[in-house]
Amino acid sequence: MSFLSNSGTVHVEVRVKNDFRISEIRNGLERALLVYFQSAINLPRNLAYLPDIFADQRQYLESVLLERDNGNGEAWQDTEDTKYRFHFYITQRVEPTGGLFPAGGSGDADDIDSVVAANHVLLPAVQFVGLWENLIYETGLKEKLLKFALSALTFSQHRVDMNVIACNRLLLLHGPPGTGKTSLCKALAQKLAIRTQGSYAYTHLVEINSHSLFSKWFSESGKLVARLFSKISELVADRNNLVCVLIDEVESLAYARSAMSSNEPRDAMRVVNAVLTQLDDIKACPNVLILATSNLAQSIDLAFLDRADMRLFIGYPGMPAIRAIYKGMLAELMTAGVLQREALEAEDAEEGLLTQLAERSIGLSGRTLRKLPLLAHAQYTSSDLFELNQKISLSDFLDAMLEALEQHLTEQRLLKIESLEEL
Ligand SMILES: Nc1ncnc2c1ncn2[C@@H]1O[C@H](COP(=O)(O)OP(=O)(O)OP(=O)(O)O)[C@@H](O)[C@H]1O
Ligand SMILES: [Mg+2]
Repeated sequence: MSFLSNSGTVHVEVRVKNDFRISEIRNGLERALLVYFQSAINLPRNLAYLPDIFADQRQYLESVLLERDNGNGEAWQDTEDTKYRFHFYITQRVEPTGGLFPAGGSGDADDIDSVVAANHVLLPAVQFVGLWENLIYETGLKEKLLKFALSALTFSQHRVDMNVIACNRLLLLHGPPGTGKTSLCKALAQKLAIRTQGSYAYTHLVEINSHSLFSKWFSESGKLVARLFSKISELVADRNNLVCVLIDEVESLAYARSAMSSNEPRDAMRVVNAVLTQLDDIKACPNVLILATSNLAQSIDLAFLDRADMRLFIGYPGMPAIRAIYKGMLAELMTAGVLQREALEAEDAEEGLLTQLAERSIGLSGRTLRKLPLLAHAQYTSSDLFELNQKISLSDFLDAMLEALEQHLTEQRLLKIESLEEL
């Protein structure tokens, strides 16, 4: 079954509560949603926020997300050309191997059996719900990534000869720290799990902890690598599984190679080579996708870099993305009841404050932006204006955000001066 689509398609991701069987409710729900789509004036992205529309279905419905194939998030109108593709899913509760492997071990910190070489999660997982939607980049970036992964999987389904057309199913995301590379890989794997259910019964995410492979057990690392990949091979052997392998901070492979000057050069080399050979072996299997991240692209092992089909630079968010991240965070604080519920209309004073805030935030990572509301709240509650048990007004909070941002920028400058002085 093909999982490809084009820009006229709207994907409808319906998350069903775990206690219900999708097959029993699917048809009724699909009909109800289609009737709703045809009558709605502007289709919002997230129907979960709309009260009462599906009052009858609430008992089994967790959320309904609409996503246009081209990634354009604006509201849209149903037309005759709109094609809907439904993806019903429930999230997985149980992790098949208890979450970590290699399993077993005495629990002794000095025992290699106790080293957590990888995390294993069955997808779609509850902890990744909403991750994709909350990562905000320029329009089309996430879709490019998703299309790449789907095209690569389509090539393998068609058994395209890899000797004729290079297709390693290896993707590298690189860029500065805190720009969402790791999160994006996990979110992509989750997205694939939801979108490729017709082809793969199970999607697994195996997150390799590169640092632990090259820890103080250098001499034991070879064993760890072998054991880890034999577990992965077991998963891959079942062609009903889609296995996404995430190698986070892949530059530690390169560090290991450059450890030539240290005491254990040959061990380090051997481990890196073992990882590369094992990767070559598993990526020959059609149901594997390897996702790697790095914030030091220039120091990634060349042998590894060469194998990547696609390298995508993930940079700091631009103005539209910063504004969207801020707006999302403010909306969350309103939903949670920390802020008063107020609209952010164009021309309002609050809108002006938001623009000012966004302009001052250029050059900051998504990670830093996400920390600001907490700092701002602390800032606000330490001011004399603060009244206990009252919801904060939007303009007061935006003022506090601006102050927190200025403090952050000052600290960042001081840190830079300090580190320059150390040189
Ligand atoms: N563009 C973005 N939109 C929304 N959230 C973002 C964005 N970039 C980063 N974040 C948030 O920042 C946090 C850190 O992201 P993550 O750890 O994935 O970054 P990273 O690029 O892997 O960082 P590092 O290079 O340090 O490993 C996450 O909570 C993520 O949601
Ligand atoms: Mg990371």
